[in-house]
Amino acid sequence: MREIMKRKDTSTKIISLTRKIADKNAALVRRKNRNRKSNTRVIAITSGKGGVGKTNIVGNLGFALSQLGKKVLILDADLGLGNIDVLLGLAPKYNLSHVIAEEKSISEIIIKGPGNMNILPTSSGIQELTKLTKEQKIQILTELDSLIDSIDILLIDTAAGISSNVMYFNVSAQEIMVVVTPEPTSITDAYALMKVLSLKYSERHFNLLVNSASSKQDAHEVFRQLNLVADRFLDISIEYSGCVLFDENVTKGVRRQKIVSELYPDTRASRCYASLAKKICKSRPHHSPKGDTNFFWKDLIQNKFD
Ligand SMILES: Nc1ncnc2c1ncn2[C@@H]1O[C@H](COP(=O)(O)OP(=O)(O)OP(=O)(O)O)[C@@H](O)[C@H]1O
Ligand SMILES: [Mg+2]
Repeated sequence: MREIMKRKDTSTKIISLTRKIADKNAALVRRKNRNRKSNTRVIAITSGKGGVGKTNIVGNLGFALSQLGKKVLILDADLGLGNIDVLLGLAPKYNLSHVIAEEKSISEIIIKGPGNMNILPTSSGIQELTKLTKEQKIQILTELDSLIDSIDILLIDTAAGISSNVMYFNVSAQEIMVVVTPEPTSITDAYALMKVLSLKYSERHFNLLVNSASSKQDAHEVFRQLNLVADRFLDISIEYSGCVLFDENVTKGVRRQKIVSELYPDTRASRCYASLAKKICKSRPHHSPKGDTNFFWKDLIQNKFD
């Protein structure tokens, strides 16, 4: 009996020692994760309807954020029809298709744009890129995750619509900025996009940016209407990010392959992009990054896209 008690005592000591070691290791891992937790903000700029001004917003907002001293990376996630490089007058030699083909790493394809912004270009006219497998998308985010700690803000320029690629990049971002214009078709498509993101992917919070508005009041009215309907029929919250006023200098810039903020820094639209950049710098993201990753994909995307 004494022998049994002695053995029991020893095994209790071993168990308690093992627990202590496990607790210590867990604490170390937690501390490591906390230290590694990135402050990089990941914002997806998206829309239901196409041609509402996303790429111009990403380019100009990125430029305005750079002017405020932020290190910006732009990911062209309009896979297959990417054109941020064209808008910025750049001619990248390599793009995401070379990463997918495992010919280049992500860091090797990043190029510099105006204001020293970093641009991660995609290809245009390669249909295969619109049909990436889950593994290939995870490959992109994993590589990105390992290099964006040195970046303050990652802006993701998505394609328009509700395709699985668009959903994927929106769900992987920390913040979703939906772009809408005052046109009824754009408003209904923005509503449809948020509906799918909330019902199918449990996204509950959105930022709304009204582009090409004739006035600030006009823009706010668009937000008010959309918010009213969403409040009634969807379980989501929409925060008003502000507006970019209609300005024909934006189109002039597009034709000259220079963003309006660089070409005409003191025009209506450029001032809007600049104040949006200031607002973003002052605000805190609605969600904070989880664990040791900049993206939510580790915990969330895997389940949502199975
Ligand atoms: N604030 C603005 N004022 C005037 N014109 C604008 C404004 N913003 C965008 N535009 C015009 O709208 C066009 C489409 O813009 P952009 O390419 O940025 O849209 P997009 O949402 O990225 O399109 P897509 O869905 O095809 O990717 C631009 O070429 C520009 O001429
Ligand atoms: Mg675009």
